[in-house]
Amino acid sequence: MSVDVKVRVFENPAAVARAVAAAIRDLSLQEADAPLTVALSGGSTPKLLYQKLASASFRERTRWERLQLFFGDERPVPMEHADSNYGMANAALLSKIHVEAHRMEADEGKAEAYERLIRKKVKVGQDKIPSFDLILLGMGADGHTASLFPGTEALRERERLVVMNEVPDKKTQRMTFTYPLINAARAIWVLVCGAAKRKMAGRCLDALKGDPPSPEDDPPIAGVRPKQGELVWWMDKAASG
Ligand code: 6PG
Repeated sequence: MSVDVKVRVFENPAAVARAVAAAIRDLSLQEADAPLTVALSGGSTPKLLYQKLASASFRERTRWERLQLFFGDERPVPMEHADSNYGMANAALLSKIHVEAHRMEADEGKAEAYERLIRKKVKVGQDKIPSFDLILLGMGADGHTASLFPGTEALRERERLVVMNEVPDKKTQRMTFTYPLINAARAIWVLVCGAAKRKMAGRCLDALKGDPPSPEDDPPIAGVRPKQGELVWWMDKAASG
């Protein structure tokens, strides 16, 4: 079954970051006072986004007190390490504002604890699965998203919401949200920038017109299909071709 995906194309990665920052600020300014649950991703475009959100105009106009931040994936490193998604978000944004942010620790046995935290903090939607107001994702040139890499076990997970995923190609494990949790979100925004991603992005957007991939099939990002929520791909010209 095809998926309704909105594609928004901007001049360059900075323009993508500015547009997504404005959209997050506007979400926070909507009349409701209810908490807004948002899952952050790692990667270079999100880093630009976090830096933009930390700049004076966005920092001062966003209602940070409404936001509850989580992470969609993480590497098994301390937060001081250059590969830490939390470390990156902390340096770019979190250390500059007051906001509730829940670090994901990619250690053995911690996936269950993070899942319990999500079940406690994020209101449930369809099928009793917690439904984030917004999940931010990126896409690698191999079609991975969060830490759902091609051919890995986590792609088959249908029950658990957060798992440690063995990634043989990288000789490591990563903690990651699974499809059931991602696809239960009310909004999923995928940030894709750079010419190196053009081919894969085109392939994935085509794949969204058909049935979901089987877990053996690449690319994982094509399995990101919200059950009820909106799916938006925010791209720069270089990635959109
Ligand atoms: C991570 C991610 C990952 C990322 C993509 C795109 O922790 O690396 O969450 O899925 O979003 O690899 O990353 P870039 O924007 O750096 O290309």
